[in-house]
Amino acid sequence: MSKNPTPLERARDYEREQAPRLPADERPLFHLTPLVGWMNDPNGFCYYKGRYHLFYQYHPYSRVWGPMHWGHAVSCDLLHWTYMPCALAPDTAADAGGCFSGSAVPLADGRLLLCYTGVQPAGTFRRETQTQCAAIGDGINFEKVSANPIIDPACLPQGYSTCDFRDPKVWLGEDGRYYMVAGNRQAERQGAILLFSSGDGLDWRFLGEIDSSREEYGRMWECPDFFTLDGKQVLIVSPQEMHAREEFHAGYGTVAILGRFDEKACRLDRERVQPVDHGLNFYAPQTLSAPDGRRIMIGWMENWETCKEAPRRHPWYGQMSVPRELYMRDGRLCQRPIREIETLWRNTVRHDRVSVGEKTSLPGVQGRLLDMTVTLFPGDSACRRFTLRVAEDGAHYVLIRCDLARGELVFDRGHGGSRRDIVHTRHVRAEVREGTLTLRLLMDKESIELFINDGERVVTSLIPTPLAADGISFEADAPVMLSVEAHSLG
Ligand code: FRU
Repeated sequence: MSKNPTPLERARDYEREQAPRLPADERPLFHLTPLVGWMNDPNGFCYYKGRYHLFYQYHPYSRVWGPMHWGHAVSCDLLHWTYMPCALAPDTAADAGGCFSGSAVPLADGRLLLCYTGVQPAGTFRRETQTQCAAIGDGINFEKVSANPIIDPACLPQGYSTCDFRDPKVWLGEDGRYYMVAGNRQAERQGAILLFSSGDGLDWRFLGEIDSSREEYGRMWECPDFFTLDGKQVLIVSPQEMHAREEFHAGYGTVAILGRFDEKACRLDRERVQPVDHGLNFYAPQTLSAPDGRRIMIGWMENWETCKEAPRRHPWYGQMSVPRELYMRDGRLCQRPIREIETLWRNTVRHDRVSVGEKTSLPGVQGRLLDMTVTLFPGDSACRRFTLRVAEDGAHYVLIRCDLARGELVFDRGHGGSRRDIVHTRHVRAEVREGTLTLRLLMDKESIELFINDGERVVTSLIPTPLAADGISFEADAPVMLSVEAHSLG
């Protein structure tokens, strides 16, 4: 232990001392949890020098949010992670109030640039201020640049917020310049995403506002990401305080805006707006471009509204979603678990075209570490209602019910063991397509990620259900044909 440790040394000392005490078998199998303490947003998700890097919003000292550090882990397959020492701590004038979310991009000289939001606490004469800052390093150790903050909100046109200005996402453009989007808030138009460019990653110029909430999609827009997929420009934002509308639920949401970027006008012309994830626990996703060209997204598997109420059952708190490959189908942003997940498949059980009516289980289909696909073939069956129960025992179950006539699915963890009067249910569209409806469930102990029709819609939720509740049952109000393919994971 150093004598007068800096905040970063202190965090690293604490990790060395505390991490070995945390029981490894309590952690999920392949979802990243914090080394110690608390985790929120994914940060600096990138591929650098042959490995994937994932940083995260981190408070090592407790299981609740506190002064933000950056935790760090690396992986070759995005499923098995090796923890690295804490990467950033709030230890300069520019970030004394915390190192908030941001991103990472390799520089021309081979070093890795981290861009993050430096929070300056409120003082006698000023409100809390959020600025964009940089740190440069070798992938393990990072030095904050002396020019910090590299973007001060004073450089923004009038009307933008100086206290809600955060979460820079940086990428290298095809023209060799760096680009950055960051979240802000405009009094009357509310959430807004600002675009900047830079030749060296440090000296930034404001280009304009590419889109804003227009009083439709929430207030502050957090954690933007902006990329091209299959010829479309995709802007992902995580709004606070949304009203329920169309397919969006109230509160903290995730929104994908698809369209065409008009470079001259510096504006994204919208063609479609859709939720990214419909579940109870998914927020602040970030993407990377993998060496093989895949666009891979990972999100924080939590929700600000309910995480404060959640019981702290483990010595750590917070986890990431499974990494997902994004793709376009019929003009919609879809997602499926990265194919690397197949390396975790252990025993496989298949049931081909069995008829299910009364509540039943199927031999060998059970577990809480499972990658299971259920394919329904409604054909000319009179079935209108199909019910899948997972994480089931005599006292608990999580219900997934498809109303085939309405094309709607209900996800309900209300009987999953919660003692809290919080939201437990989501309704989402789930339509029969070309004669089938597929439900792919990834279960990793206390989480379920449900991919409907190959990820046309996704429902991500934590479940508090005791692990012994590992039953799965099927029920339909009239006999219906289905196939099941279930892989246990290990
Ligand atoms: C989103 C967020 C970000 C911010 C970070 C702070 O979850 O509110 O906007 O940078 O968390 O931890």
